[in-house]
Amino acid sequence: MKVVHTIAELKELVSAAKIAGKSIGFVPTMGYLHEGHLALATNASRENDIVVMSIFVNPTQFGPTEDFSSYPRDLPHDTALAETVGVDIIFAPSVEEMYPTDGGIYIRAGRQAEILCGATRPGHFDGVLQVVAKLFNLVQPNYAYFGQKDAQQVAIIQTMVRDYNFPLELRIVPIVREEDGLAKSSRNVYLSAQDRTEAPAIHAALRLAHDQMLKTGNVGQAVAIASAYIEEHTSGSIDYLQLLSYPDLSAINDKTEQVLLATAVYIGKTRLIDNVIFSLKGEKAYV
Ligand code: PAJ
Repeated sequence: MKVVHTIAELKELVSAAKIAGKSIGFVPTMGYLHEGHLALATNASRENDIVVMSIFVNPTQFGPTEDFSSYPRDLPHDTALAETVGVDIIFAPSVEEMYPTDGGIYIRAGRQAEILCGATRPGHFDGVLQVVAKLFNLVQPNYAYFGQKDAQQVAIIQTMVRDYNFPLELRIVPIVREEDGLAKSSRNVYLSAQDRTEAPAIHAALRLAHDQMLKTGNVGQAVAIASAYIEEHTSGSIDYLQLLSYPDLSAINDKTEQVLLATAVYIGKTRLIDNVIFSLKGEKAYV
């Protein structure tokens, strides 16, 4: 496995892979790897000749009061873990390497970014698209792997790929959870012992709402059940809890097939997100 920090080194490796006719699977991350990230790489390794993983805490997707500087980082540990799941190249650039100049040209996410996490984190998805577009151009992958954990992120990136004809396909990997249902996240390290005992209630609430939705189809009731469960079982506060069609993220109507039930909850000081995506016809896609 090679770890490179510059665009020039990455370009050399990518062009050698292309000349050799190898397919490239790409896993973008911000590091502090856990089994969720590793599942993406495992899938990428199964489906491609070469796996490139980026590890870059992208400043442009953090708001001014968010945790950019305190976001956990551990490149040596990440490197060791990535090697165990078949990553061939790690691209870990500095901020200066990624953003040497500011030419004032930006990508702006559209309607899908005005709601859910986008409502609380203005500009977040613009920053995500900025870095992902650059990374796609650098890595030139055949397939890029994203987690359902960030379902809104996937939906928005999917729109960019479609509308701007990026020559690659997205692959979406189901959420990897702890045994008690808590979705794995680099931010789980922020949870206190008390927070950690409360956090699994988020997924439990989503499951209750999912079951209710399949029984009655009543959106308001399903959302109310999940909200009540979170309020009863945690000391946290709900940022949002919403049921929308997926991946277009609009209100559910008669024609809706697939839905996203997504939530963000502050447990202590930590903002946790989770979701389930399922078909209203009964078969669940991912829960
Ligand atoms: P990060 O939060 O590090 O996540 C990297 C990828 O891992 C994302 O696609 C995310 O959805 C996936 N992931 C995280 N936790 C997961 C879990 N429990 N199960 C399955 N997949 C999981 O998302 C980002 O970084 C950034 O926004 C990025 C796309 C790298 C752009 O900077």
